Amino acid sequence: MKQTVLITGGAGFIGSHVVRRFVRNHPEYLVVNADKLTYAGNLANLTDIEKMPNYIFHKMDIVNRREVDELFEKYRFNLVIHLAAESHVDRSISSPDLFIHTNILGTVNLLNACRAQLTAGEDTLFYHISTDEVYGSLGAEGLFTETTPYDPRSPYSASKASSDHLVRAWFHTFGLPVVISNCSNNYGPNQFPEKLIPLAINNIINRHEIPVYGKGENIRDWLYVEDHAEAIDIIAHNGKRGNTYNIGGNNEWKNIDLIKLLCRVMDDKLGRRSGESEELITFVKDRAGHDLRYAIDSSRLTAETGWVPRHDFAAGLAVTADWYLENSRWLQDVISGDYASYYEEQYIKR
Ligand code: NAD
Ligand code: TYD
Repeated sequence: MKQTVLITGGAGFIGSHVVRRFVRNHPEYLVVNADKLTYAGNLANLTDIEKMPNYIFHKMDIVNRREVDELFEKYRFNLVIHLAAESHVDRSISSPDLFIHTNILGTVNLLNACRAQLTAGEDTLFYHISTDEVYGSLGAEGLFTETTPYDPRSPYSASKASSDHLVRAWFHTFGLPVVISNCSNNYGPNQFPEKLIPLAINNIINRHEIPVYGKGENIRDWLYVEDHAEAIDIIAHNGKRGNTYNIGGNNEWKNIDLIKLLCRVMDDKLGRRSGESEELITFVKDRAGHDLRYAIDSSRLTAETGWVPRHDFAAGLAVTADWYLENSRWLQDVISGDYASYYEEQYIKR
């Protein structure tokens, strides 16, 4: 019998890679992508698989309980992979309320719908996709493990930490089968140009300043998005119920060093003079409450499943740069509309 999987937020950056992977690699699943299509959701991310017979899209707001319940009534999901969220730290600083609604209340609606199926005697695995930012900020040494105490410091990370706690509460209190993974910073094709790497690529293409917050000394651990999608596939099928898995790239970069590397890659691809793009680097006012360093220990996942990141950073960055250069129409489309006012609010008035 066919299994049904719900992927929320499947029109977004990571979600679209997860949807593609499940549609292509798991013909035994009917893959239902439910997404509100906010500024970050884009069905153009999925044109290559949209006509596959095991794929269906539903426009749905996870904050709307009736819409969620109706979808569950229709499909009786065996597996829910929950990615839908407001995902950008800077936006959470300017508009925290939306993050509380989507990331916390939206998650609770999905948990309740899964619980209703459990009560009806059906077994549904709820897989929550979360972030390493729930652990707070590291100093120069050490790595986040699954037992690192939660210490979220931005409205975004606090909303994700809240939803992680609620998922665990539904496991312990109501017996709902759950699994959680907390991943480091992703990069790759289809990422909205508000996050560091695609924002810098877009600005380099257009010869606009590249805004680097503070002194550019903050450190992130970068993972290619398809490596994350593979880890999600593995955890969905082999993760222990009730468990948490950290996922990371073992690939720490200071922001300024990453941007300089990206500038060299882009000069090369655009046929520009060596050093030309680096001249666009502009140090701007720091982000409020800017976490210094994130770095992940993913040894639990590797020990249990053998997963390791496959993509080397230089190669992944080159593929990413090529993708944005070859998909100028995609880029133009996503930066039309509200992007100019977002950019002005965030960077020009900064
Ligand atoms: P994204 O912003 O690119 O996509 C989010 C998607 O969720 C969009 O398609 C959007 O339309 C949808 N969405 C938003 N609100 C919704 C609602 N109310 N109802 C239904 N759909 C809604 O985000 P992303 O970077 O792909 O992140 C996906 C998930 O992975 C998030 O839960 C995020 O916290 C987590 N995560 C992201 C990263 C990263 O580096 N981007 C790292 C670790 C974890
Ligand atoms: P971002 O891509 O927003 O991810 P996160 O804040 O979730 O880690 O930012 C990555 C790093 O880059 C972070 O330290 C903030 C910094 N940054 C800049 O310096 N300039 C920018 O324009 C952006 C968007 C981020």
